[in-house]
Amino acid sequence: MPISPLMKQYLEIKQEHPDCILMCRIGDFYEMFYEDAETASRELDLVLTGKDCGLEKRAPMCGVPFHAAESYIAKLVSRGYRVAICEQMEDPALAKGLVKREVIRIITPGTVTEGGYLDEGRNNYLASLWMSSGAAGIAFADVSTGEVRATDVTGDDILHRLLSESAAFAPSELVCPEGTDGEVTAAFTARFGTLISPMAKEDFSKSSALEALKRVYGEAPAEGSDFSVCAAGALIAYIERTQKRDLSYLQPVAYYTCDEFMGIDSASRRNLEITESMRTKQKKGSLLWAVDRTRTGAGARLLRARLEKPLVNETAIRTRLDGVKELFSDGVMREELREALKGVTDVERIMTRLVYGTANARDLNAIANTAKLLPEIKELVSGAKSACLKHICANIDVLEDVCEAITKTIDDEPSMLLKEGGMIRPGCNAAVDELRDMVKNGKQWLARIEEYEKEKTGIKTLKIGYNRVFGYYIEVSKSFIDKVPPEYIRRQTLANGERYVTQELKDTESRVLGARDRLCALEYELFCSLRGFVLKAADRIHTTAEALAELDVCCSNAAVAAEQGYTCPEIDRSDVIKIKNCRHPVVERFLEGGYFVPNDCDLDCGANRIMLITGPNMAGKSTYMRQIALCVILAQAGCFVPATEARIGIVDRVFTRVGASDDLASGNSTFMLEMTEVADILKNATRKSLVIYDEIGRGTSTYDGMSIARAVVEYTSSKIGAKTLFATHYHELTELEGETDGVVNYNIAAKKRGNDVVFLRKIVRGSADDSYGIEVAHLAGVPDAVVKRAKQILQTLSEQGRIPPAASRREPESDNISFEALGEQRVIERIKGLDINTLTPYEAISVLYELKKEL
Ligand SMILES: Nc1ncnc2c1ncn2[C@@H]1O[C@H](COP(=O)(O)OP(=O)(O)O)[C@@H](O)[C@H]1O
Ligand SMILES: [Mg+2]
Repeated sequence: MPISPLMKQYLEIKQEHPDCILMCRIGDFYEMFYEDAETASRELDLVLTGKDCGLEKRAPMCGVPFHAAESYIAKLVSRGYRVAICEQMEDPALAKGLVKREVIRIITPGTVTEGGYLDEGRNNYLASLWMSSGAAGIAFADVSTGEVRATDVTGDDILHRLLSESAAFAPSELVCPEGTDGEVTAAFTARFGTLISPMAKEDFSKSSALEALKRVYGEAPAEGSDFSVCAAGALIAYIERTQKRDLSYLQPVAYYTCDEFMGIDSASRRNLEITESMRTKQKKGSLLWAVDRTRTGAGARLLRARLEKPLVNETAIRTRLDGVKELFSDGVMREELREALKGVTDVERIMTRLVYGTANARDLNAIANTAKLLPEIKELVSGAKSACLKHICANIDVLEDVCEAITKTIDDEPSMLLKEGGMIRPGCNAAVDELRDMVKNGKQWLARIEEYEKEKTGIKTLKIGYNRVFGYYIEVSKSFIDKVPPEYIRRQTLANGERYVTQELKDTESRVLGARDRLCALEYELFCSLRGFVLKAADRIHTTAEALAELDVCCSNAAVAAEQGYTCPEIDRSDVIKIKNCRHPVVERFLEGGYFVPNDCDLDCGANRIMLITGPNMAGKSTYMRQIALCVILAQAGCFVPATEARIGIVDRVFTRVGASDDLASGNSTFMLEMTEVADILKNATRKSLVIYDEIGRGTSTYDGMSIARAVVEYTSSKIGAKTLFATHYHELTELEGETDGVVNYNIAAKKRGNDVVFLRKIVRGSADDSYGIEVAHLAGVPDAVVKRAKQILQTLSEQGRIPPAASRREPESDNISFEALGEQRVIERIKGLDINTLTPYEAISVLYELKKEL
């Protein structure tokens, strides 16, 4: 038995797209078959049926109605599938034989453009990676907004650097050459949930890359190294291949170097909770959440992008801050602007959908409604004095022509569908009005026929109806069948009546339906030409949209500063970080009525290089250190800071490491991980960096941990010279003040009151006098009997001097490990570290001897 022609066609198309779920348009449905059907029915909760395909076994099948497809596609794409959309390329009614079908677009996690799939407040990046001999080029594109960037990544430990650079983009999909190192792709997937899309190596060659860039941009790129050009070219090729349309809407590739921005690796991003909270992975509880007062989607995206990539260029930071300053002091202008911005829609993404042909008449109205606000907004900023606002003002085009064209053409509440009419404003086009009239009159005609036939036949229940199969018909209920005149032609029998047509009805119908079809076609044509007109203004619209986003961010920064009492930081290239009354932007918001105690910070690269902070658990050490880092990030992103005064010498990188046992959230809090991260700081921090160590060395035994912590402080002081905040529970380390250059002891004050401890939250010079562990236990509700007994034990221990007093009071968890296990662990580590190839036979014997002894 031969396979059916439709199925043959399907299988041929499927063969071209083996890595996609193929959604094949058949009539009013998108159908999926075989494994695709099984996957989709599982993921989308669809009923799995079967289709006769000519073969003995029916093909597993499931489908979704075409008009509801978007949400189903969104679900599949968000779960990491690629979906190939296969359309009917001719009208099935007119096609001779099998309808021609083609894949018109492949939707993947990194290439979605529809609002329904995207989070308004964040960009969605597709990345492309080209690596070769110790260097790499990486490119990022947000297909929904048209932004494209590329950079080189070089140096040792390239994977780590790549991940750090990518962290600000968190790409949802990565294009890379077939056969790319599995360790690299796995790391992307683990870190950002990235879908890996391999492409032929050839696509990454210099010549292919240049060709791809030329196809889209018309000329070879003037800048960019070979690496970034190869990555960008392959990225473009991938977008072409999946989107299958003109990509001239993409912005030119912005080549940048990593050192144009503050370096924040992914561990530090996580620890500092810049855009998402560590625990919930949500925006709530993050720095972004605390400072976001934006009013538009594009503004929200831009603010997020700025916090992800703070600047290091003094002038650029100052420019941003000057804009905020002006809107901060002019509250009236700020609030009027913010009010106007409320009405601004996501023009950037609508423009992309216009290019894609997926935007509808309502989207055009949204552009017009935004354009209507532009004269007012431009007027409001036109008196501004700062270069930042002046620049924004200059870039706002009021788009009068676009606004007028849309308003004139499109109805106030147009249909969402493109091909069903109902879009064009009455009075705009004479032919449209005339056809509408005809359609309407046709309906009146039908009503008249109905009246006439009722009277003529005396059938009271006679009515005219419409369905897609027969068109217009006359319906007569059963009880009147005998009154039906002979000229009625029967078309359908129902349970309680019959349906007929007459010649007159059919004539009227062809007039009505003909007019309807012509009307829909004409409206669509007018829509398309208007769309073409708007697209011609794409550059002006894009520049304006960008200016509005910048304005929104500027207003947001000024608004949060006014509401929360932030101040403008003084920025320079000194080594100083001096902050008065600094607060934690997020913690203070969570204190609900409670008072956040502000603290000062005084760091430089000289005598105040390393703040060594001790103090009881819960005193506020971690909070304090993070708030300093967050202030520096805010300042360099061009925002005001939560303090009364701040001077920030520009920092090149920020590092934050948390002792393993403190980092419960990550789930893999191993000592090894902690040490890997510390190693990374020691290798990458510079004199210009800000480093935060939060209780490192906790994940191992007391003496080990203390020794490591001490060695790290010494090395950071002597070899790196970075400004460092170092919180530790090892009181012994306070001895370093005076011994090691730049170390200054601080502690966060606490007072004993009876059995309890009172946290004063104030950071003061000197070391903590006590760790108050037992008092904290009492505060936490540990039963009195236990607290009392603990005090007894502590006293005995100190008197007998069995364990050095300070350290012994807060033994870390690792003491649970028995010494035997520890010995075995050491042997294992030792064997792992052995390089057999360089070992002489004699050394081998002696290592064996030592291992045996250790056991
Ligand atoms: N300056 C402050 N003002 C008010 N509350 C604070 C302050 N600093 C910290 N806290 C509160 O104390 C809690 C514990 O702080 P944390 O920094 O985790 O302490 P530590 O690291 O010393 O154990 C925080 O969750 C916060 O609620
Ligand atoms: Mg802490």
